[in-house]
Amino acid sequence: MTQKFLWGVATSSYQIEGAVAEDGRTPSIWDTFCATPGAVSGGDTGAVACDHYHRMPQDVALMKELGVDVYRFSLAWPRVQPDGKGAGNPAGIAFYDRLVDELLAAGILPWITLYHWDLPQALEDAGGWPARDTAYRFADYAAIAYDALGDRVGQWTTMNEPWCAAMLGYVYGEHAPGRKDARAGMAAIHHLLLGHGLATKVIRDKAGHRDDLEVGITLNLSHKIPASDSPADLAATRWDDGMSNRLYLDPLLRGQYPADIAGKLAELGCPLPVLDGDLELINQPVDVLGVNYYTSRVVRAAPAGDNGWPATTTVDRDVERTAMDWEVTPEALTDLLLRLERDYPGPAWYITENGAAYPDTADESGYVDDTDRERYLRTHIDAALAARAKGVNLQGYFAWSLMDNFEWAYGYDRRFGIVRVDYDTQKRTPKRSARYFAERVAAEKGAS
Ligand code: NOJ
Repeated sequence: MTQKFLWGVATSSYQIEGAVAEDGRTPSIWDTFCATPGAVSGGDTGAVACDHYHRMPQDVALMKELGVDVYRFSLAWPRVQPDGKGAGNPAGIAFYDRLVDELLAAGILPWITLYHWDLPQALEDAGGWPARDTAYRFADYAAIAYDALGDRVGQWTTMNEPWCAAMLGYVYGEHAPGRKDARAGMAAIHHLLLGHGLATKVIRDKAGHRDDLEVGITLNLSHKIPASDSPADLAATRWDDGMSNRLYLDPLLRGQYPADIAGKLAELGCPLPVLDGDLELINQPVDVLGVNYYTSRVVRAAPAGDNGWPATTTVDRDVERTAMDWEVTPEALTDLLLRLERDYPGPAWYITENGAAYPDTADESGYVDDTDRERYLRTHIDAALAARAKGVNLQGYFAWSLMDNFEWAYGYDRRFGIVRVDYDTQKRTPKRSARYFAERVAAEKGAS
């Protein structure tokens, strides 16, 4: 196959940077959430994280050793535009300037995500994502970021996993800002998507017709498998797939919300607050649709809860599980990609995240012999390439994550890195899985 295929590693700002009060950065909702007793396991915070803000050149050198083509990272909005309003912050932007230059000097393509969940706290205080205005604030921030870095960066992702930002943040209260309000959550979904549309337009307008521009969004998509052919299980699976997958894919790629889901949400008193013209904005051409894939789910119907929301349960399978208790199901990645290409043809698909947490044990030198993670990566890369061989327009794969980092509500207790981080010394040690990934990347590049 002659079409390009990029191999990369991914991280996000709050999970690795630390330096939360340096160079004019203001608090994000995650700083506030971490300070809330009981919100994050062990009381962990992102205050220091992997100290990447001060160790960035060393981390880029690690990537170079891995031989990757591309690095997917996010900008901290409260660093680039403190408080989410007004002009850009030169001192904060300077960090990303240096990072982009360091990457380019190492021959690695920078791939920027604009929003990986660290909303400026000031914008949450003004209503957060349930408030329509936040989408417009996001477009202004995108303009600042593109003006600063667009001369050297052609790959732009607007949002990372809007499902998590809206559902975990505003409905279930498990992520920042920790709200539990379904109506607010549904408004957040719409405004995150609207923000994507507005920012895409801003970036395209600014970029003119440069031909290396790729703008898109990353979704966490999961393959849903009905527990049986019974009408109840089929309906439950359709609802689950609707709430997790179609609610995002349909407006982005077809210009409309799925009628069954939008209708039910309205009936439940949690409508998607769509105004005239919104769907046209959300349905901007998408060059790249990023897929974050970790697991799949067998769905069984359950009696509706008191609140009237359709309910489902998960049927456990007898398969390996990761330290997140997620079932390891690589074959479902092939099925998911085939379904995406069939139902939503058009964009280039990238696996923008794939990886696993395991209970690593390091030897005295810091080395982790993580055969489990190596197997996870191998079987999932095989599954992704199998879908490509069957005609899916898959153009890249990113391992999550370059290094162990702050795993949100789990704090530092869950390690996803292919490189070990000793949080006492900040020493980085490539694990066995890093070696495997580097060898696989080299072999695949040699073969293409
Ligand atoms: C997806 C998120 O984008 C990332 O931040 C997180 O660490 C991984 N999933 C693992 O849970």
